[in-house]
Amino acid sequence: MKKVYNFNAGPAALPKTVLEKAQQEFLNFQNTGMSVMELSHRSEEYESVHVKASNLLKEILEVPDTYEVLFMQGGASLQFSAIPMNFLHSNNIANYILSGSWSEKALKEAEKIGNCHIASSSKDKGYSSIPSAIQLSKNPAYLHLTSNNTIFGTQWREFPVLPANVPLIADMSSDILSRKIPIEDISLIYAGAQKNLGPSGVTVVIISKQLLEQCHKNTPTMLNYQTYAENNSLYNTPPTFSIYMLSLVLEWVKEQGGLTYIEEKNHQKAQLLYHAIDLSEGFYTGTAKKDSRSFMNVTFTLPTKELTQLFLHQAKEKGFVGLAGHRLVGGCRASIYNAVTLESCKALVEFMDNFQSNNR
Ligand SMILES: Cc1ncc(COP(=O)(O)O)c(C=O)c1O
Repeated sequence: MKKVYNFNAGPAALPKTVLEKAQQEFLNFQNTGMSVMELSHRSEEYESVHVKASNLLKEILEVPDTYEVLFMQGGASLQFSAIPMNFLHSNNIANYILSGSWSEKALKEAEKIGNCHIASSSKDKGYSSIPSAIQLSKNPAYLHLTSNNTIFGTQWREFPVLPANVPLIADMSSDILSRKIPIEDISLIYAGAQKNLGPSGVTVVIISKQLLEQCHKNTPTMLNYQTYAENNSLYNTPPTFSIYMLSLVLEWVKEQGGLTYIEEKNHQKAQLLYHAIDLSEGFYTGTAKKDSRSFMNVTFTLPTKELTQLFLHQAKEKGFVGLAGHRLVGGCRASIYNAVTLESCKALVEFMDNFQSNNR
């Protein structure tokens, strides 16, 4: 089989052992004589997969009992609508921090529902850093932020601390499960699975029970968080195969040593790449401000567009996949989610060094 180094931004690399386990079980899941995809979502066998995924997520992320874990669909993009539909009322104001394209999209959906306020933004800096100086509106419904900006390669190190009555909502699509997070400081976390959690199809939501009580009763059933909480995310047919894959990824994370190990490894991988960029004497330029750099998406440019194209072309020939920057910003981006190995990052650094020597 062709050797590839997968740096895709999402859907992204999955741990090899997880794929192998899924392959082993594919035709005959736990002696049922069926694939997990063929099981009824009301069967005992599927139920155990569902519960395992939820319990492991709670265990690994240390989710307190005051929170619910929900499995939804529609990706993070549907959460952009679900959040204001549940929590933005005629008498309050949704607060958004703009740190990149995904937060802009989240705001755009909220503006269709009610009054919104931009509490902070780094748009004027080309989204090269995490915004500071948050100014909340009066009567805020919540404050929404994007914890890792997949396109611009910036990431919140620490989350803002808010007054007790203001829920913090975080889109953690591209850095959930990559590091320890203070769940108690965040009222709602959501993430599409296709970066660190598994294949696309399931969207994980971690919501405080306190916020859950505030869901607007007129929210359509399938967008109302209470529907999922009250029915163990089994009100309708959930994406069973994606949840099964999620359970395998979570088992893998646990076997690796949990978030302490994962976080340390992610640091090493990111440092390796940022070092290569910083030591390149300007041949490679990191596009994010140093103190805002993401440990998940390393974004950089080369001196000219022609060199960037040549770099991407030669990288592809050597088996490096997914290094082109997002179509909105161009340049290069190495997405180094949990399943991307240190070896892949070392191979990329070696390629970058060689490319620089041959093209300076
Ligand atoms: C931070 C962030 N938010 C939202 C999205 C949109 O996710 P989805 O495609 O699951 O709707 C993405 C996708 O890459 C993302 O990186």
